[in-house]
Amino acid sequence: MVQKFTPSSKMNDLIREDASLLLTMTRFGLPLGFGEKTVREVCLERDIDATTFLTVVNYISGGFQSDLIPADTINIDNLVTYLRNAHNFFIDFKLPLIRRKLIDAIDDSIKEDPYKKMILKFFDDYEQEVQKHMAYENNTVFPYVLRLCKGDKDPEYSIAVFEQNHENIESKLSDLKNILVKYFPSQKPNYLLNEVLFDLADCELDLDRHTKVEDCLFIPLTERLEKKYEESHPDTSQLDKSESLTDREVEILTCVVKGLTNKEIAQQLFLSTHTVISHRRNITRKLEIHSTAGLTIYAIVNKLVSIEDIKAVIE
Ligand SMILES: [Fe+2]
Ligand SMILES: [Fe+2]
Repeated sequence: MVQKFTPSSKMNDLIREDASLLLTMTRFGLPLGFGEKTVREVCLERDIDATTFLTVVNYISGGFQSDLIPADTINIDNLVTYLRNAHNFFIDFKLPLIRRKLIDAIDDSIKEDPYKKMILKFFDDYEQEVQKHMAYENNTVFPYVLRLCKGDKDPEYSIAVFEQNHENIESKLSDLKNILVKYFPSQKPNYLLNEVLFDLADCELDLDRHTKVEDCLFIPLTERLEKKYEESHPDTSQLDKSESLTDREVEILTCVVKGLTNKEIAQQLFLSTHTVISHRRNITRKLEIHSTAGLTIYAIVNKLVSIEDIKAVIE
């Protein structure tokens, strides 16, 4: 599909088309004062990857069409910086600003304390939820992805964990908007309240776009990185599991499939029963085979025993 904005688009034109792109520029660290400069020129000056910036801009202004496939050359560092700056904006600036305006608006209209407190508590609970959501991304998801970019994957984590638990955080704002619009006990025109409602609508849209950049761009790009990592680092754990039986474990496995009890194995190999049990536990863990029948097949396939050796047991 044809991209709306290209490296030769004028920065001014982006804002003229869609004023909300100002937020995107600021979050990429591109300050105002563009003159007649193009996207390519401004990005070069600020050491921002133009493809990454344009991908986000085109996603936002194009309404996140699913046929937009991000380029292979997206700069994840730049993208993470953009997302982190957006978090700072919501947590340190936008939500505290709305809270202050909300207090002014309700102070102006409501005299009953319990109702005032309830509205403010609803907002404060929401603010905490957003902080928790964004702290998880800042402290867990972004460091994981930046490490992955450097070819170092945390084996305990995967972006699928984030994808499955990633929730929209803007829906509660819509609830607050509805409560204020439908049930706010105001007897007179309240411009302060109107201001709050405009801000809530802006913030809801901005958060929705932020979540979509994470869902439609950041997560698929990370999945691509994980796939590349896995291709260049074949999983050797399965090989290790089947190849890493020690000589002693092979000896014990052979005895097990021949039908010897733990006590008999211990006597035959001059070990304690406890040691035999511990070796058997390791064999099971390494091979991921729990039954004696399964171990017997493994032993035959790997020529540790012959059918003749175990004839008495299997008959
Ligand atoms: Fe986020
Ligand atoms: Fe998020």
